[in-house]
Amino acid sequence: MELIENLKNDFTEIFNENPTNIYFSPGRVNLIGEHTDYNGGNVFPCALSIGTYGLTTKRDDKKVRLYSNNFKDIGVIEFDLDQLKFEKEHDWANYPKGVIKTFKDHGFDISNGFNVLIYGNIPNGSGLSSSASLELLTSIILKDTFNLEVDMISMVKMSQEAENKFIGVNCGIMDQFAIGMGTKDCAILLDCNTLEYRYSKINMDGYKLVIGNTNKKRGLVDSKYNERRAECEEALRILKEYKTISSLGELTEEDFESLKDKIGNPIIRKRAKHAILENIRTLKAVKTLENNDIKTFGELMNQSHISLRDDYEVTGIELDTLVEAAWDQKDKVIGSRMTGAGFGGCTISIVKEDAIDEFINYSTEKYEKIIGYKPSFYVVDISDGTRKLF
Ligand code: GLA
Repeated sequence: MELIENLKNDFTEIFNENPTNIYFSPGRVNLIGEHTDYNGGNVFPCALSIGTYGLTTKRDDKKVRLYSNNFKDIGVIEFDLDQLKFEKEHDWANYPKGVIKTFKDHGFDISNGFNVLIYGNIPNGSGLSSSASLELLTSIILKDTFNLEVDMISMVKMSQEAENKFIGVNCGIMDQFAIGMGTKDCAILLDCNTLEYRYSKINMDGYKLVIGNTNKKRGLVDSKYNERRAECEEALRILKEYKTISSLGELTEEDFESLKDKIGNPIIRKRAKHAILENIRTLKAVKTLENNDIKTFGELMNQSHISLRDDYEVTGIELDTLVEAAWDQKDKVIGSRMTGAGFGGCTISIVKEDAIDEFINYSTEKYEKIIGYKPSFYVVDISDGTRKLF
């Protein structure tokens, strides 16, 4: 592979030695089940063939030296294994640093440092989880370099913990799980309450999954995200007075109908409505897909977007415009919705395979006319999760 050869040469140039190991960690896209993970609901994501590569050598001292081809101007970032504090000027390297600290906090013996060269081909800030990809990449590097007895699910949990506690983003477990546990050509139905999961083959005769990137600059995603979480926690606190539950994901549609008036604040009520109905929609959607009824799956994707737009209010003009452009093309598109945290980032659509070019042309034209700049599109290949390549 030419890419790998180039990365090996880059490593040698930066660190004056040849890399000994090469790892890969994918990005992810979620097909349905949005903002349900931290509400104890179900999600249905898959791992992508784009992701983050890491080339490494082990060191004799306690230094960790990291270099990213995506941030060449920042140069090599160096820190000591005894000094694992968040430092703003360490920028992207805080993600691997947070994972190393979390592993150590859990008692794993990481006694030596290492050199890493990173290269990612997930568009940055696109909502395809470049940060979770880097966290799992660091996890597999630690496991392999230090022969740690640790399974993938524990690495998934520690990566999430690093993001929550070290980076300070209160994300759920979906991204890290999809990236660590991904399997080629399958999406994962994951119950985020119990972490029970199963793989579901994605086989859409004549149709393809297409990601549309709004290319909107990343803005207040993290603070808005934490705000939605707090709103759902408030809804849960109120509903717990009437029903014995530990998460919104345990409620049925009937439960919501009978309890909704207990939530006085209409905004909190809408947030709870989305969380509960999106969870039910996800279970329904997976069933329809498994029965080869992709038409109904598409309709449920559309409903998911409407709920995220009107009740959860995490879309915005860029995502809505891109999704509406897809909805305009009923003869080519089965369904379309925003994916990930929202407020920008990407959409996911099911598009007729032989009409993808027309779909992209129409969507680009409409989006550019309204928003003023172009979106980007990627046809999805569903890949395996985080792994050692060589
Ligand atoms: C982000 C978070 C996930 C999940 C999604 C919304 O990607 O990292 O945990 O909450 O948003 O579904």
